[in-house]
Amino acid sequence: MQLDYYKQSIQLIGVGLAMTLFVVACQDKTTGPEEPNKPFLLKAPYYFGDYTLPPDNPLTEGGVALGRMLFYEKKLSVDNTIACGSCHLQSKAFTDGKPFSEGVASKRTDVSAMSIVNLLWESQLTWTAKEQTLEKQAIIPMQHPNEMNQSIAEAVRKLQSDSRYPPLFKRAFGTDKITGGLITNALAQFQRTVISKDSKYDQFLRGEYTPTDSEMRGLRLFFSHPDPIAGTRGANCGDCHLPVRLGGNTLGLSGFHNNGIDTDEKLRDGLMSTTANPKDKGKFKAPSLRNIALTAPYMHDGRFKTLEEVINHYNSGIKRSATLDPLIVAASNDPRFNPTDPIKLGLTDSEKKDLLAFLDMLTDEAFLKNPDYSDPF
Ligand code: HEC
Ligand code: HEC
Repeated sequence: MQLDYYKQSIQLIGVGLAMTLFVVACQDKTTGPEEPNKPFLLKAPYYFGDYTLPPDNPLTEGGVALGRMLFYEKKLSVDNTIACGSCHLQSKAFTDGKPFSEGVASKRTDVSAMSIVNLLWESQLTWTAKEQTLEKQAIIPMQHPNEMNQSIAEAVRKLQSDSRYPPLFKRAFGTDKITGGLITNALAQFQRTVISKDSKYDQFLRGEYTPTDSEMRGLRLFFSHPDPIAGTRGANCGDCHLPVRLGGNTLGLSGFHNNGIDTDEKLRDGLMSTTANPKDKGKFKAPSLRNIALTAPYMHDGRFKTLEEVINHYNSGIKRSATLDPLIVAASNDPRFNPTDPIKLGLTDSEKKDLLAFLDMLTDEAFLKNPDYSDPF
């Protein structure tokens, strides 16, 4: 009797397991071409603020799934060796760990790869604001001789003759006639879903995590402008790396700054290469610092290998130049600081450690392992 009962339960467990597997299998199929396309439900935290989606490229499940495949598709490069995901690795928060990225035939880009994160809230893309939409930005690496080095027409031809793709385009966009516009639409859809929202900093913003004393001191320093007369100590970072996003405002060009890494003689054109305005010389996008502990080396040319070096730069390594940001010139914790002196923030060693503890709070393990962003091949 007892034994029968156990046998029965084991059978039931077996049935249950089989059903679970069946359900999982069906769920997996939702990325297949057979399933009807549906709007993609985006999970964005309320405190990230509003965003707009282009009306002519709404998010759909089919479009996002196709975009993910294309992001990891090496056929988008001339010799089928490089995908977007070759320079934007999920394990490194979608950077590549190099000062300059390597494209086809080991050719090098002249700036460092940027993290792909929370781009739904950004409207200026690349270090120098080359593009404003993800749809248009994707065309640059696809064609650039040092990146993927392939014409859009050739990319279209390769995908059209790969039997996996026409049905996926059909599901995503209602047509199996592939075009460059549909490729970049799908890539943009996928990238808009790449959201980091579970770092300790996010948990703190949602009231789910109590920072350690050091993290809390670091957070305060990060967002405080120093005022020695009022007795406020600050690291001044929040003037350019804004709360929640931790990058600059990208609605206009106000999020682009010269943060003192070079003297006039060495300063690169930066934003001036896009705007032709000499006032923009040496300005670069203040990027999001989310997952910053994983995206070394740092700055547009990867000149700093560690976050300690970055903090030392802001603390005592700032170089003067004509376009150096006024927010940096004016910031010091030293009451005797004279604006014509060499620029010194004047943080103590323990304050530097606190700042580092705060920067470590920006790592989002769930993001780095999220299967929705991983290589499907
Ligand atoms: C060879 C390496 C390489 C490849 C391949 C590559 N990227 Fe990039 N990506 C970079 C570099 C370098 C930058 C910075 C470019 C600049 O500032 O001019 C960048 C910047 C970006 C940005 C801007 C991010 C921001 O915060 O402004 C986006 C979006 C992006 N890439 C998406 C893509 C997509 C989509 C693909 C595939 C079609 C791709 N990348 C392929 C290296 C690469
Ligand atoms: C005046 C504006 C400004 C201030 C103040 C500022 N930053 Fe930056 N930050 C930038 C800009 C612009 C860049 C990109 C510069 C470049 O690549 O040449 C940057 C880059 C960085 C990077 C490298 C990002 C990457 O992906 O490579 C880190 C880390 C960083 N800042 C941290 C800080 C910290 C910590 C502070 C405070 C001590 C701070 N920043 C203060 C504007 C600023």
